[in-house]
Formats: sequence, structure tokens, C-alpha cells
Amino acid sequence: MANSNPAYKNLPGGYLFPELAKRTRAFSEKHPGVKIMRLGIGNTTEPLPSSIIKGLGVGVKKLASVETYTGYGDEQGNTELRKKIAEVKYKKAVEKIEADEIFVSDGAKSDTANIQELFSKESIIAIQDPAYPVYVDSNVMAGRTGKIRENGQYEGIVYMPCTEKNGFFPEIPQEKVDIIYICSPNNPTGAVATKEQLKKFVDYAIKNKIVIIFDSAYERFIYDSSLPRSIYEIPGAKRCAIEINSFSKEAGFTGVRLGWTVVPKTLMTEDGANLNSLWNRRQCTKFNGASNIAQEGGIAALDKKGLKETQKVIDLYMKNASVIKKGLESIGIKCYGGVNAPYIWMKCPNQMSSWDFFSKLLEEANVVCTPGSGFGPSGEGFVRLSAFGHPKDIKKAIESIKKNLKI
Ligand code: MLT
Repeated sequence: MANSNPAYKNLPGGYLFPELAKRTRAFSEKHPGVKIMRLGIGNTTEPLPSSIIKGLGVGVKKLASVETYTGYGDEQGNTELRKKIAEVKYKKAVEKIEADEIFVSDGAKSDTANIQELFSKESIIAIQDPAYPVYVDSNVMAGRTGKIRENGQYEGIVYMPCTEKNGFFPEIPQEKVDIIYICSPNNPTGAVATKEQLKKFVDYAIKNKIVIIFDSAYERFIYDSSLPRSIYEIPGAKRCAIEINSFSKEAGFTGVRLGWTVVPKTLMTEDGANLNSLWNRRQCTKFNGASNIAQEGGIAALDKKGLKETQKVIDLYMKNASVIKKGLESIGIKCYGGVNAPYIWMKCPNQMSSWDFFSKLLEEANVVCTPGSGFGPSGEGFVRLSAFGHPKDIKKAIESIKKNLKI
């Protein structure tokens, strides 16, 4: 008789974004004809730039003739793309990132969820609170935690609160931990770690044989050149950090699917395992490589023209972020993020809870946001607004909030 994985019983009801979609659908059914404006999930809306379309077209055309057709590719990714990622993305790395330290994937979400498999079940994980829900949920599924407590924290996870008081970047954990997840620019708070802040974590990780899993999916949204776009800009990071990144937000690949993970060859666990070899072994067994079409698109995205064209789209989203932030501030709402990051972290007025404010915003202004408590207990009392949208829709949403929200 088949029994279910008992760890799944520890998960809360649904994953955050489908839950959001469900509640929004229920509202729509109750109010047919009401136009809903979506600032919830961070989903790209703008068409792909011409150079990327051309690149994807190259991938399609190659499949049309026997001379250029390819079936399965390397599990680790297209060699040209791996070289290009190493060259374009890690120019500022203190120690060179080699192409064979880069593993191309179908996106950051799956790598973020799968990477925990490399570590023992007893490993203690520390997360920023609030955090992208995949870090916690994937560890719950793996049986690395106990049950969720009344305060919204899981037994067995170390929470590093990110609050207004600490500028949404945590202190070093006091407890013993083995793996630390850090996301910068942060989803959901929009806070960006400075070099000094990351250095503290890197030094601490090296000293205590901790592995940092660094999520840099939003690095292209950093405009301030003094802020690090990769953890490998910090000395020693190649001895303690894995970095996960994505083409989703910077190149509009949320539907195309493409990302990568850097696992340095110098990165060892305390018991002497080489994480690059383990991840390679894992990927060869469980993954057959990213789509060859998507990878051609990725190569085009990292060309000079691709980078220039994607920058224009990033600029458009960042203008949206400014419209959202300024609009909310003009009605006296306190906001964070939205600068060097595409998310605005908004404090709910009148000490409302995140889900109460979600309902209020939907009912009064017909705007969807993401409740902060869905990212962890320290997110309670906040909501996240996403800058990914058509500028005219974003403007309409903000006008509606300004006109209709009763605060
Ligand atoms: C988000 O809204 O946090 C993300 O877009 C969801 C994701 O990347 O999976």
C-alpha cells in the first residue's frame, strides 16, 4: 500500500501564489465585470526584445534540418551559454567563475527548491524572514523541519527577522546553522545587501563551515554600482556560497524558462564532499538539460545588443516601481524597496493584517497585492506590490488606489 510522504502533512494549505489567484478568482466571480489590476505575482508582461526573438528563432531553425538538429544536450547546459554567463555575469567576481562551475537550468525556482537535496537531512537551515516561500517549503517537503507553530514559524528552522528596525537585512544568527539562504535584491522587501553586510555573512560562513545559498534573481535591477550584484564580489565567497540566478525577470523568460546555478569547484561540505560534483551527479540523474531553444535565447540575451535591449525593459519596470512608490507615498502610505529592486514593500495602514489589507485593496481599489505574511511571520502587517506590468495598467492601479482606498 502506498503511503504519502509524511513531511507534506507539515505544509500549510496552498502555495502562496496559487492561493492569491484563488482568492482573486473568487472575487471576480462575485463581481463580474469588475476589472482587476494585478500587482501580485512578479510576472513579466512586456514582449521579448527583437534580438532575443531572433535568438529563439535560431534555436527553432536549427531543429528544422538534419545538419543542425540536436536532441538531448549536455545536462549542465550549452557550452557557449555557460561560457557567456561566466564572462558577462561574473566580471566583478573576486575569483574567476569558470564555465564548468555554471549549471544551466529551466529556471531559478526549481534550482532553489532542489539545491537542499545536496545536504543531510539534519542540516539546520536559516532563512531571512520574510523570504521567497520556496526556501522554506522545499525544506519542509524534504522532512528537514517539524510542524508549523502558532507564531507561523516552523520547528527546526532558524528565522532571521528582516524588519524596519534593521533595514530589512538580518543579523548573523545566534544559533548553530548549516545553510543560510540570502536573497538580494530581496524578494519580497526590495532591500539590497551592501558589500559590508554580505562580507559579514561570508566571513561567518567560512569560519563555521556554513553554505550560503544566494538568490540573485533580481540583480539586474540594481542601478547603484556600489552595491554587489553577485556574492562572488565578496572575497572568500567561492569557498562558502552557491548562487542561483534566472533569465526570468531580466530577460522576460518567465514563460520561456531558463536560469542557472553557480556551484564553485572549491566548495566543500564539512564532511569533505565536493558540492560541484554532487550537483553534477544530481542534475545528470534528474534533469535532462534546459530547452535548446531557450538556451539560444539566453545566448542572445547576453550579447551586447541583447543586454542593451533588456536594459530598456528593466528601465520600464523600474519606472513602474517609482510610480507605485510615489503614488502610495502621496497618500501617506509608508513604503520600502522599489529602488534597485522591482518590489515595493508597503506597510499596511492602521496596523491592519496583511490578508485583511489584501481584501480591502481588492474590494475598494480592485488591485491585487501579495500579503506579506505569506512570506513569513515577519512579513505580517506588510504587503508586496510588484512593478512587473504594463505602465498604463500600473498607472491605472495607482490612480484607483489613490481615488478609492479608504484609509
Ligand atoms: C514572485 O512573485 O515572488 C515570483 O515571481 C514568483 C516566482 O519567481 O516564482
